[in-house]
Amino acid sequence: MIAIFPGSFDPITNGHVDIAHRALKLFDKLIIAVLHNRSKQALFTIEERQQLIRSVFPGMESSLEVASFQGLLVDFARSKGATVVVRGLRAISDYEYEAQMALTNRSLWDEMETAFLMTAQQHSYISSSIVRQIASFHGRVDHLVPPPVVEALRRKHPRTLA
Ligand code: PNS
Repeated sequence: MIAIFPGSFDPITNGHVDIAHRALKLFDKLIIAVLHNRSKQALFTIEERQQLIRSVFPGMESSLEVASFQGLLVDFARSKGATVVVRGLRAISDYEYEAQMALTNRSLWDEMETAFLMTAQQHSYISSSIVRQIASFHGRVDHLVPPPVVEALRRKHPRTLA
C-alpha cells in the first residue's frame, strides 16, 4: 500500500522524521509530498525543502519518494496510486484542523483514507514555525531538527548558535 505524507515541511523537523519512520513500518512505500503554497511566507524554497528531506533519509530510495505538488492533495495522491494520507498528531489541539482535512479529502475522493500517527512524546511540541522563529533569533535548534537542517538554518541565519 502506498501512503502519502503531505505538508509544508518548512523545514522538516524531528517530529516529521519520527512520523515518516513510523509510517515506513506500516506501508510499502511512503511519498513525502511538499506543498507549493503561495499564501505562506516560506523560509526555504520547494527545492531546498525537498533536498533537506532527501538528505535526512539517505539510501531509502526504494521505499521513500520525495515529491512536491500543487493543487488538491487527492488529485496528486490518485496520480501516484496512493490511497492513504499520513498525518502526525501531536496534541488534541491538532485534531480539529486534521479532522476537517481528512473529511474534506474523503468527500473529494471516497478512497482516500487518513492514518493519524502519534509522534514520540519528546517531539510533541515541535513545529516548523517554532523552529523558524528560534533560528531567526539565533537560538539553538539542534534538538528540534536533523543535522542537515541545522546547517541549512545556519546558512539562512548566519549567527545561529546550534
Ligand atoms: O504542513 P501543513 O501546512 O499543515 O500541511 C497542510 C497540507 C499540505 C496537508 C494541506 O494544506 C493540503 O493538503 N493542501 C493541499 C490542498 C488541498 O488538497 N486542500 C483540500 C484538503 S484540506
